[in-house]
Amino acid sequence: MTIAVNTGFAEAERTNIAAALSTVLADTYALYLKTHGYHWNVTGPTFQALHTLFEGQYREEWQALDEIAERIRALGELVPQTYSAFAKLTAIKDGYASLDSEAMVAELLHDNETAVRTIRDAFAVAESAGDQATMDMLNVRTTAHEKHAWMLRATLDVK
Ligand SMILES: [Fe+2]
Repeated sequence: MTIAVNTGFAEAERTNIAAALSTVLADTYALYLKTHGYHWNVTGPTFQALHTLFEGQYREEWQALDEIAERIRALGELVPQTYSAFAKLTAIKDGYASLDSEAMVAELLHDNETAVRTIRDAFAVAESAGDQATMDMLNVRTTAHEKHAWMLRATLDVK
């Protein structure tokens, strides 16, 4: 039995929003994976501070994955769930275990800003369909990634 989604969105609106959210999900997953990896592999005199900073950020991103994915399901669409699907969708590159700590922080700063830009694009899609629930969620994600970026930038002592 099929019961069509009947929440006032055109089908194309739901699929467009879900596609935009899938890109946000892929960025979030890639950033989560990289941040957790750098939590493990960071070295140097700032080890303890960065190990802890990265943990706070990857835990926040991990929680967000479920929120984003379940919003896609609530819109009536399937969620991408494989490494290969995420790799195709995200603009965020893999991390490298042997980078020095400053390079790790600089990469994560750049990647959080990439995520913010992806979210801004997704927000425009949601806004054009009047999807307030998605817009609310994306505002929370923007705030989180801008906060992460601020903390990473402050760690590097750059303006
Ligand atoms: Fe840990």
